[in-house]
Amino acid sequence: MLLDNHGRKINYLRLAVTDRCNLRCFYCMPEEGLDWLSRKELMTYEEMLAACTVLVRMGIEKIRITGGEPFVRKDIMKLLTALSKLDGLKDLSITTNGVLTAPHVADLKKIGVRSVNLSLDTLDANRFFAITRRDEFANVMDTMHELLNHDVEVKINTVVMAGKNTEDIIPLVKLTRNLPVVVRFIEEMPFNGDGHGYSGIVWDYVRIFDEIRQVFPDITKVPDPMHSTAYNYQIPGHQGSVGIIAAYSRTFCGTCNRIRITPQGTLKNCLYDNGVLNIKDLMREGIGEVELKGTLLAAFNSREKDGWAAESKRAENPDFRESMATIGG
Ligand code: GTP
Ligand code: 5AD
Ligand code: SF4
Repeated sequence: MLLDNHGRKINYLRLAVTDRCNLRCFYCMPEEGLDWLSRKELMTYEEMLAACTVLVRMGIEKIRITGGEPFVRKDIMKLLTALSKLDGLKDLSITTNGVLTAPHVADLKKIGVRSVNLSLDTLDANRFFAITRRDEFANVMDTMHELLNHDVEVKINTVVMAGKNTEDIIPLVKLTRNLPVVVRFIEEMPFNGDGHGYSGIVWDYVRIFDEIRQVFPDITKVPDPMHSTAYNYQIPGHQGSVGIIAAYSRTFCGTCNRIRITPQGTLKNCLYDNGVLNIKDLMREGIGEVELKGTLLAAFNSREKDGWAAESKRAENPDFRESMATIGG
């Protein structure tokens, strides 16, 4: 078992395969997009597979593919298929915005993807356009239904933003009445790509819960899976359930089991740190497996105890010019 310096098990890798995206969610990146990474700066699929092979041998049991938007990277199914065959990997999941996903659902099911997290901040097509600056709402809904039709678990990720989509909280909770989906409300974090427009947390997890409880006073706590980022709830009689992720308040760091690799190969011990080493660079310098394992172990032995400590130790002042798309969420 892979443990860090705080005795926490590490068994979950979030691998971001691209910084590019076909949406422009304002809380993630500016309208003109980002300074996209060049192909040379990106990890190749071979490098990703090699890194994952080593990490799975070290104790990683779950890999979540993120982006940017994973399905904008060419031939992503090839990488997913190769990863699905890794000996020792128990769970391969994806977080996607759902724009390009529907045609791949049958193949995802075939290679054993059990669960897909779908980013969707509103059930209103006009607000969807206002938030994402793209007219893709219908495609995302198609993806949701296609996933459910193929018996793939769907978790909807909704970032709660003051003045933008708080009127969507209740309609999204109501979606759980007749659909077996998990709707998870996420506190907005400051990673929006230009460091502006984030004025502190307005809708924290307590406020989100209170909003739901006013309409559904019989909302009930249900057990949280181990290492869950979400506090989970259910409305009696509803097929689906509701989660709240205190991503800004960082209440779940004590059981954090996750590490990240960004599209350019940076290993992050925490969403809020600056990165500890670059796996791609080490591999291009020809590092062998034994030495790579040693280097990774040393990195896992110097994890900060929580996201607040990680943030305070960032080399650059955290004015959060980073975009979630270059971190992978
Ligand atoms: P499951 O594997 O289904 O539990 O999903 P997940 O919550 O690990 O992943 P997902 O990609 O769906 O992320 C949901 C939200 O939680 C996103 O906004 C992430 O940025 C946030 N999140 C995920 N992991 C962490 C973390 O370690 N720290 C913080 N602060 N937020 C996180
Ligand atoms: N704050 C909170 N969550 C965010 N995501 C993207 N940007 C932010 C932000 N600034 C979410 C997306 C996606 C997940 C990986 O991260 O909605 O579902
Ligand atoms: Fe794209 Fe996700 Fe960022 Fe939206 S939040 S712009 S879907 S990477």
